[in-house]
This record gives sequence, C-alpha cells and structure tokens, in this order.
Amino acid sequence: MAGAENKSNAKLIFPDGKETILPVVVGTEDEHGVDIRSLRQETGYITLDTGYMNTGATQSAITYLDGEKGILRYRGYEIEELAEKSDFVEVSYLLINGKLPTTKERGVFGQALTRHSLIHEDMHQFFAGYPPTSHPMAVLSSMVTSMSAYYPDSLDRNSAVDLHITRILSKVRTIAAFAYKKSIGQPLMYPKNSLKYAANFLHMMFAVPSEDYEVSPILEKALNQLLILHADHEQNCSTSTVRMVGSSGANLYASIAAGILALWGPLHGGANQAVIEMLEEIKTAGGDYKKFIDDVKNKRDNRRLMGFGHRVYKNFDPRAKILKKMCDEVLAQIGVRDPLLDVAKGMEEIALKDDYFISKKLYPNVDFYSGIIYRALGIPTNMFTVMFALGRLPGWIAHWKEMVDDPQTKIGRPRQIYTGAPVRKFVPIDQR
Ligand code: CMC
Repeated sequence: MAGAENKSNAKLIFPDGKETILPVVVGTEDEHGVDIRSLRQETGYITLDTGYMNTGATQSAITYLDGEKGILRYRGYEIEELAEKSDFVEVSYLLINGKLPTTKERGVFGQALTRHSLIHEDMHQFFAGYPPTSHPMAVLSSMVTSMSAYYPDSLDRNSAVDLHITRILSKVRTIAAFAYKKSIGQPLMYPKNSLKYAANFLHMMFAVPSEDYEVSPILEKALNQLLILHADHEQNCSTSTVRMVGSSGANLYASIAAGILALWGPLHGGANQAVIEMLEEIKTAGGDYKKFIDDVKNKRDNRRLMGFGHRVYKNFDPRAKILKKMCDEVLAQIGVRDPLLDVAKGMEEIALKDDYFISKKLYPNVDFYSGIIYRALGIPTNMFTVMFALGRLPGWIAHWKEMVDDPQTKIGRPRQIYTGAPVRKFVPIDQR
C-alpha cells in the first residue's frame, strides 16, 4: 500500500507557549490529516476525541467515501456502477485482492467458495443447543468463533490465509441459513454446488427436502445488489473492531466474530431490524407517522427516526438512494405491495422538509429501505442484521488482511484522560 504523502506541516501551540511541528499527510483524494504520532513523546499531550469523530486510525487503500458529496467507492469503483454491473463474489474478490478478477481468477475464486460451503458435521449439533428464541446474531457470532476451533491452524496467522478467507466467506453464508432453519424448526438444507453464491443462500434459506425449489432470478439479483451495497464502508464501528481485535494478533475467525458483535447494535447494523420494528409499531398504532416524527423531534422517550442520520453522510447516503429505487423495482417485479413502504415514504417526505432533520443533516441511510426489500425476499426481521453481516464480510476480511500485511500496524491501544479519584489510602472494611 502506498502511504499518504507528507508535503507540509502544521504547528500546534500549547498554553505554556511551547510549540510542536506535526506533519500533514494527504491521501489520494486530497484528504488532509495531521499526523500526531510523535505528539505525546514530544510534548506529553494526547488528543481527546470521544467517538473518534476526527481520528484517522489507519491509512487504507480499500474504500473511499466523501460524506458531503455522497460518494462511495470500493477500490476506486463507484458503488452505483458495481451495484448495477457486478455481483457479490466479484466485489468480494475486488475488496480482498484490490483488483477486479480476470475470467480465470473469477472462476477459481467462485469455485473455491462453492467447494468450501459445507460446515463440519459436528457443528450441526451446535444449532440444536440454542433455544428457538435465540437471536440469529448470537448464533452467527458464536459459530464463527467456533470455526477457529475446527481450523486450529488459523491460530498461526501466517498459515493458509487465503484458505481461511475462502472458508469464512463461504461458510458464514451456510451458518446464517442454518441459524434461520433451526429457528423455524425446519431441516437444515445442505448447499447445492450447482448454484451461485447468492442463489445458494436462497436455496439454503427457503428450500425444503420435500419439494423442488427454484431460485427466482429477481430475488438472486436483488440479493447480490443488497450484499454489494453493504460490502464495505471503511472505518465504521464493526470494521474498526475487526482491525482492533486483529491488531492483538487474534486470528481471522476471532476478529470477524468481534466485528459481527459490534454490528449487532441498533445504532449500527441492527438499525435495519429497528427500522422495520418502528414502521410496524406505527402501523399497528393506526399509522400516525406524523405523531411519531413529532415524538422524535421532541426527543420523547429518546426516540430516534431509525434508518436516518449518519456519522459521515451529511447530504445523502448513496446506498440509500440506490435502495429506494430498488425497493420500488423489486416489489413491483415480484408483485408485492408492502404497506410499510407507504409509511416509510411518508416519513421520509416529511423529514426531508422538516427543519429538525435539515438542520442536523439527517437523511435516510442504508438501513431505511433495505429491510423492506429483505421482507419482500421473505427474510424475517430478526435475520436482517445477519444479512448485513453477510454483506459486510468481504470488507471486514479486506481490512483484516490490510492490517496484517501493513508493517506499520501496532496493537490498537487508545489513551484516556483520567477523571477519577486522586490517590487515597485504602480503608479496612471494618472502618468504612
Ligand atoms: N433521529 C432523530 N435525531 C437524530 C437521529 C435520528 N435518527 N440521528 C441523530 N439525531 C440527532 C441527535 O439526537 C443529535 O441531536 P442533538 O444535537 O440535539 O443532541 C444530533 O442529531 C447528532 O446526533 P449524534 O448521535 O451525535 O450523531 P452521530 O454521528 O454520533 O450518530 C447515528 C450517527 C447513525 C448513530 C445516528 O444518526 C443515529 O442514531 N441514527 C439512527 C440509527 C441508524 O439508523 N443507524 C444506522 C446507521 S447506517 C448503517 C451503518 O453503517 O451503521
């Protein structure tokens, strides 16, 4: 990876008049950052940036996004073009290997994913151990951790990295579908090697041994597009977690499992489930979404308009734009009319004209419309975040690999400003 260039410097002046010169680094797209790596050693000061609003934790050549202009590119390719012209396997190859595959490379990669789709038979018993009420994200994360027990050579991070990458990419899909089958009490459906990646997932989710199941090309295409749109998003909460955990030397499976858990929260990947639950709650209460928006604006019960707002997108989220259009197209193609779509569109229309949302730069994000498409594909609400994880997997892998290969990587270890009690004497329990 070619590092960012250092062409100029910044001067920092402290309250005591002391000064320090810090290099300014510039990325490919003219992004500027102050390199503070020498700051503490030279001055004794650290920076404080709760929530990492301004902190670049790494240099990365994987994904570029400009939140003001609504730009998202994987390895230089526009997300709009990839969603239209590519498929998820090709995008996974691109993210992980840094270039689009040739026909031969695409064939070898796709074949490897097909051949590694089975999970160890003993792992089937794990599914039986979970209660039927288990959230599939709990099952997915623990099954991914368990994979490191079945492939112990993964504990040596220099051993067969490409093989572990293939395994995790292929088997997470199988685990996700098995978790669903288990939750509804149906037999687990083995993967079918004649099917491509997305079609195979739909087969494992929706086929039953007692009848034939033909994968709808409309659903297959929609799933490919959904997965592509989720495939990477540079240094977000889950990806940074993968890098942080991996920086300790933890293996690929452990690092990805940590990323899955970070994704689960409703402010991150869990928002897609939260959006549908919000829309359903509004519909069940009579459909008065104006009142809901009023509650949000008045912060009643700390309500938020789920699926709105983003840390980096301050104009629009390019993924949401594609998804809104896709939502109309997919529902029309499969002849589904979802009343929740009407509620969502009504809420969006009001929010986009409302000063509360305009002034805070809150726009629909990737999670606002994705759930409605997942519903149309037949995927249950509690599986939505699993779908996000399936899509984000190649991004997490690409970041883990980039971190491992980067000679500048150091264990992630932030600092803090201590605000607790000053030193005090221990008081024995009988004197307290
Ligand atoms: N509804 C109502 N108010 C909001 C919302 C929202 N969805 N999002 C932010 N705000 C308000 C927030 O209350 C705060 O107001 P104030 O200045 O009066 O205190 C202001 O906007 C700034 O919010 P913040 O939480 O400081 O902003 P952030 O950059 O830390 O948070 C966010 C970004 C995505 C967590 C937040 O917008 C949010 O909670 N959105 C809803 C959850 C959601 O849809 N998450 C999915 C994000 S996209 C998928 C992904 O990549 O994770």
